[in-house]
Amino acid sequence: MRRIGVLTSGGDSPGMNAAVAAVAKTARYYGMSLIGIKRGYNGTLCRSNSIADDMVELDLDTILDIADQPGTFLRTARCLDFLKPEMRAHAVNNIHEMGIEGIVVIGGDGSYHGAMELCELGVPCVGIPGTIDNDLAYTEMTLGYDTALNSCADDIRAIRATSRSHDRPGIVEVMGRHCGDIALKAAAATGAEICVVPEVPWSIQEVSDRLCRLYDAGNHRATIVVAEGAWDSMQHFEWQKYLIEHNERAHVDSTISTNYLAKVLRLKTKTEVRPTVLGYTQRGRQPSAYDSWFAFEAGNLAVNLLRNGIGNQVIGIKDGRVYYMPIVMALRQKREFNLGLYNMINSL
Ligand code: F6P
Repeated sequence: MRRIGVLTSGGDSPGMNAAVAAVAKTARYYGMSLIGIKRGYNGTLCRSNSIADDMVELDLDTILDIADQPGTFLRTARCLDFLKPEMRAHAVNNIHEMGIEGIVVIGGDGSYHGAMELCELGVPCVGIPGTIDNDLAYTEMTLGYDTALNSCADDIRAIRATSRSHDRPGIVEVMGRHCGDIALKAAAATGAEICVVPEVPWSIQEVSDRLCRLYDAGNHRATIVVAEGAWDSMQHFEWQKYLIEHNERAHVDSTISTNYLAKVLRLKTKTEVRPTVLGYTQRGRQPSAYDSWFAFEAGNLAVNLLRNGIGNQVIGIKDGRVYYMPIVMALRQKREFNLGLYNMINSL
């Protein structure tokens, strides 16, 4: 292959720039030119006023300068139009016109589906799992997860220090979409007393009972770590019943939030429960050494696979080492939630 492309897609994750830099370095080493595709799959649709806003030849020096920066220099987006077959056909034409012979796709689950479609249309792709969510079963860690986890742990420790000073419980909401891994590991790492995740059904009653038990045992500053996706696994019946008891309007979907949970727990436990939603602080950090290492090796492997004609693959970590497997098989794997760790946090 003489020319390849690289794109970042979905939510940005720490290490995306490092992965692009590794792709650029390896491509240069083999004398291949590299096209940066802007704003995820949107760039392949060439809808901007200038081609430079869609696809642009990457300059190695510029990329190396931003390798350790958070975010993604290529920009990222979700591209609903890419779900339409006619738009994908249009994208493939543009890719061919630019002389791009293979693409490194850095993104999560949705981005991998896009890559699979491109592969079926004859554009070989290799995926690097750029997402903080750690929701891809075939890899022990996704790119950005380690950084996000460390960021959450730092923030939860700070919140726990002030909770302890005031003897006030705290709720901290972290990201992860439908995956509770960030919440679970951050809770374990910081000694949080309660963790709620999408993988395990839960109720406000249970959380409030445990909070009261901790309070009675002398712990007046417990931390509840909530994964953002946990609202999906909450027992709605419990929720509605509670709202009705307290004369609240039962708009289950629109009113559920960490702030609201804090309000309900305040009423139920008669303690001053304070909420914090960590949000983008966990996504926009400089990559940890672990994520930068993974990005470096993954970027290198991605280019090597493409140049050896091995497309339709995704890169991950298995037994601590970087490896690859076919996209189709990777997407079929089912995640196994660490229930043992969850029970340990919520019962000790
Ligand atoms: O997939 C990464 C992620 O940060 C999720 O954890 C979160 O649910 C989502 O993206 C938020 O997306 P947005 O960029 O639209 O706020």
